[in-house]
Amino acid sequence: MPMLTIDGRTVPAPEGATILEAARAAGIGIPTLCHHPALEPWGGCRLCLVDVTRADWDGWSKVVISCLATADDGLIVNTKSRRVMATRRVAADLLLARCPNTPFVKRLAAGYGVTETSYQVSDDPTDCVLCGLCTRVCAKIGTHAIATQSRGATKMVGSPFDVEPADCIGCASCAHICPTGHIRYDETPSQRSIWGRSFPLLACTQCGKAVITEAQRDFMVERQGLRGDYFDLCDQCKRTAITKKMATVGK
Ligand code: FES
Repeated sequence: MPMLTIDGRTVPAPEGATILEAARAAGIGIPTLCHHPALEPWGGCRLCLVDVTRADWDGWSKVVISCLATADDGLIVNTKSRRVMATRRVAADLLLARCPNTPFVKRLAAGYGVTETSYQVSDDPTDCVLCGLCTRVCAKIGTHAIATQSRGATKMVGSPFDVEPADCIGCASCAHICPTGHIRYDETPSQRSIWGRSFPLLACTQCGKAVITEAQRDFMVERQGLRGDYFDLCDQCKRTAITKKMATVGK
């Protein structure tokens, strides 16, 4: 198993793990924005940069993206070197210029001593930090309903051609994964509205609570070969049913 030194501590890393994964497994925090364990690493936000060197590098070191870089045996990692902190500060400063009113970004920037951006504040402030989590989770699910549009300061997330996305199944994964709450949806007991579309919700046949959208059920039945009645019960009622079943075993 590869062994590396992170912030002065010798830590093991599972074979093939990234530096970020090795650090987190050892309880060492590295800030991230575009990383999510359920998705492939992307390396877009640059918050997770760390300094690395080796004993035989003769004092030379380099900055790498810890969510992408492999935790190779013998690496010596500094997660808070001066240039790493300076680079994170710039990233936070730029984010604050784009999202000056977003509590999540304000807290992040304040953590690096930035309470006012040194860049030009966006004329059109947004809560979207362009972390790509929403579009990547949508692609991972296989729906590809939303994507980024435009470029530079006007880059944003939306549906193709800004029309209601025909491929959306109303799962709201994009909203749940968004770190700033930029993507919103409305929900009544029987319907969920997101990206300009409304989706009927399936009700648990036991307690009546909303389970998932009918479109999501149909999608999962088709893609994953699940039986449609798998979604008859909500998670809580499924657990209750299993518990009752287990209680009868051996009687
Ligand atoms: S978390 Fe590594 S670049 Fe965003």
